[in-house]
Amino acid sequence: MVTAGPTREPLDPVRFISNRSSGKMGYAIAAAARLRGHDVLLVSGPVALEVPAGIRRIMVETAEQMQQAVIGNLDTVDALVMAAAVADWRPAVVHRQKQKKSKMEAVLQLEPVPDILAQVAGIKGSRLVVGFAAETENLLGEARRKLSAKRLDMIVANDVTAPDAGFEVDTNRVVLVWPDGSSRELPCMPKSEVAQYIIEWLEKQLPASTA
Ligand code: CTP
Repeated sequence: MVTAGPTREPLDPVRFISNRSSGKMGYAIAAAARLRGHDVLLVSGPVALEVPAGIRRIMVETAEQMQQAVIGNLDTVDALVMAAAVADWRPAVVHRQKQKKSKMEAVLQLEPVPDILAQVAGIKGSRLVVGFAAETENLLGEARRKLSAKRLDMIVANDVTAPDAGFEVDTNRVVLVWPDGSSRELPCMPKSEVAQYIIEWLEKQLPASTA
């Protein structure tokens, strides 16, 4: 299972909070896995990308819907790659009618969104779980913190301040980090090649019957 894209947290029927994720990295991982013969379930936030051939896709909008799709399908998969940029906060009140500017409050009340990977950590069993850390500072420190806090098998750290990495572009510049403290920095390369590295690493960890 691969998650991709942003989530949208509604404020009213016409407004939402979201982020700059295009979904390209997650879709590239799903496509790479499919190319190597795996059954792939893609859980996607709203993106402008076609579903790659041969892949089952569940479209979601909010972090809560993504959580339900991931948790609801977890027992059917051998590995989960959480490439989605899931919201951390959502509006505490979702208005049923469009809010009028004259009546809107200048301060938006937010509430935390459940962390999907934190929940997965408690129920994953022997499944392999890969997370992403998109950072603008202290890349490796933050990646290691998330790797440990979310009990991941690997984290893909990317510095989203580089013009050839991160949001919207077709290339990425990542460091793969593992729980034993080791890491591997990959040069700038197409997201499709980063995706191949991730899938090939997963295959090496899985028993031959599933890889
Ligand atoms: N993630 C998740 N559920 C959330 C938020 C994030 O599962 N509600 C996952 C992302 O898909 C990603 C990893 O957690 O694989 C790291 O996401 P990130 O937003 O960088 O981590 P946070 O713990 O939210 O840390 P930060 O304080 O940097 O926002």
